Amino acid sequence: MMKKHGLQIMSLLCYAFVLLSCTAAKKQSRYDAIQSEKKLVLGTCADYAPYEFHTEKDGKDTIVGFDVEIARAVAQDMGAELVIRDMDFDGLLAALVSGSVDIVLAGMTPTDERRQNVDFTDIYYTAEQGIIIRSADAKLYADSPLGLADKMIGAQRGTIQVGIAKTEIKGVAESDVEKPHKQIKELPKLPDLIMELKSGKVDAVIVELPVAQNYVAVHDDLMLASYTFKDSAGGSAAAVKKGEQKLLEAVNASLNTLKTTGKISQFAASAIESVEQQ
Ligand code: ARG
Repeated sequence: MMKKHGLQIMSLLCYAFVLLSCTAAKKQSRYDAIQSEKKLVLGTCADYAPYEFHTEKDGKDTIVGFDVEIARAVAQDMGAELVIRDMDFDGLLAALVSGSVDIVLAGMTPTDERRQNVDFTDIYYTAEQGIIIRSADAKLYADSPLGLADKMIGAQRGTIQVGIAKTEIKGVAESDVEKPHKQIKELPKLPDLIMELKSGKVDAVIVELPVAQNYVAVHDDLMLASYTFKDSAGGSAAAVKKGEQKLLEAVNASLNTLKTTGKISQFAASAIESVEQQ
């Protein structure tokens, strides 16, 4: 009888111990982990100059851009070093949810759909949507999206530009005007879409205006349409894993300082300048 009792007490104690250690493990927030590991892991998709792009620095491939500068400043405020993971845009949020990155800055628009899975900071940069076409087609679609009604539109996979193409490019026939545009080519990497545009497989690519301006500047055979589109979520925000309140607040505080001291505009201006010199 005594023995049975003792066993029961033992197993209760074990249970309590497991419970306690679980809650202790849970208590370590991402913010605390970043501070103790002294590393902030950024997830991004570096095909988006001037936001984030590859360049050669001292003979070494390096990822730069104003998102990277912002992330570096955020890391510095936390006493951490910035580690960059480059991936496809449509894999970024999953990387955040699984914990393989701590933060995402990738010119990402905070949409309601994305908000179901991650938390967003305040918007740190705004831009309209530009349309890149072939210069040879200037007469067809440079001044109005109407000419694109039955054309193939390129948009990066998993981006809001896919939705913009669907709603903003109207059909040719009267009966199609309210229907979503059907011919959309989605690829994971933007440079591949630009190649498809150059070779005639797609007829226009929709992308944030500063990025569009940059691609047009480096490709003589491409130009910008004279019109732009707006998106309702309007701008870029950083994303963190849902529920990581302390991290979210810390990033917002850093972003706020960077905004009010004019640093974000400076980072953007110098990133735009450095792309122009490439
Ligand atoms: N702003 C758009 C979105 O959030 C596109 C961002 C693409 N970013 C990139 N680094 N390729 O869907």
